[in-house]
Amino acid sequence: MSAAIRWGILGTGAIAKKFVTGLKSIPDAKVAAVGSRKQETADAFAKEFGAAKAHASYKALASDPEVDVIYVSTPHQLHCENTLLCLDHGKAVLCEKPFAINTREAKKMVTRAQEKKAFLMEAMWTRFIPAMLQAQKWIKEGRIGEPRMVMADFGFRGDLDADSRLFNPEFGGGSLLDVGIYPLSFASMIFGGKKPVAMTGAAHLGSTGVDEQAAYVLTYEAGRLAVLASAVRTETPYDAYVLGTEGRIQLHSPFWCTTKASLKIGENDPVIFEQPHQGNGYEYQAMEVMRCLRAGQTESPGMPLDESIVLMETMDQLRAQWGLKYPME
Ligand SMILES: NC(=O)c1ccc[n+]([C@@H]2O[C@H](COP(=O)([O-])OP(=O)(O)OC[C@H]3O[C@@H](n4cnc5c(N)ncnc54)[C@H](OP(=O)(O)O)[C@@H]3O)[C@@H](O)[C@H]2O)c1
Repeated sequence: MSAAIRWGILGTGAIAKKFVTGLKSIPDAKVAAVGSRKQETADAFAKEFGAAKAHASYKALASDPEVDVIYVSTPHQLHCENTLLCLDHGKAVLCEKPFAINTREAKKMVTRAQEKKAFLMEAMWTRFIPAMLQAQKWIKEGRIGEPRMVMADFGFRGDLDADSRLFNPEFGGGSLLDVGIYPLSFASMIFGGKKPVAMTGAAHLGSTGVDEQAAYVLTYEAGRLAVLASAVRTETPYDAYVLGTEGRIQLHSPFWCTTKASLKIGENDPVIFEQPHQGNGYEYQAMEVMRCLRAGQTESPGMPLDESIVLMETMDQLRAQWGLKYPME
């Protein structure tokens, strides 16, 4: 592996642009190539973000020998197919959230990465931002005693467009997969990445048949609870809390990219951790990928693959309760 790590960007949409902007804040990360379905979009992206090469297909990007790791940023229903393509060409992969449409796809991706002995990680960037690491440190130090409950939400009011990836079932639309994964992944991280022992939820399925808003309660071992909500037609406060036997931690709104965490114990003034991002916040997950690649690791302890599978199983189970099945399933 070369001194700088050479990134390939698969897809040129909204999040690819943000990710590459974050990547620019890492001195030893190189935007080596971009792959798009069309040469024009690849060229435009390469020009704007300084990618050395622009490929007119995802396959050409996956075959590029001057790329070490590929960031998959296509809509949900393509994550599995695109990840397999990259793994089959010997590339390491950072794949956008949600990791896949369902557990069946997620397991296929993980199995292929293991067969190829290649690195794979779900791009759950929230886990690697400094305020989140600080919250985990406080918990590990026992500052809030035993964590008993997590409360978190991610909901926004999107324009109802039946053809958009947010509302179209062909794209795995709905709030759970798009933004519900953030509170779910947060709760899972706090409670050790194990499968919940029970869960119950309610969702409103809108005119396109996907969950426009949903609320769910998950029970973990020893009666620990996660009280979570997501929405694509209703704005929520965006806060996250970990409530413990001795105190509580707040990840300030918007929690998934927060620069501020506070620790409150009894009547004491809160202890505040505040740190601006080095770039736009997307860089921390990329740094973790680069650290893993240099250390020869095929997965990150911060976002393990079996946990990505547990999260998909949880989403499958909630969708089954709501009667939400996607056309490709
Ligand atoms: N981490 C985060 O904060 C975050 C934020 C937003 C979205 N995401 C995730 O990132 C993924 C992409 O979201 P996005 O908002 O970037 O979507 P987007 O703006 O629609 O971009 C998706 C890109 O995927 C490619 N693509 C391939 N097949 C496509 C198809 N059939 N229809 C549309 N695009 C297709 C296109 O790139 P080419 O034309 O170049 O091939 C397109 O520009 C989603 O899974 C989403 O959950 C993550």
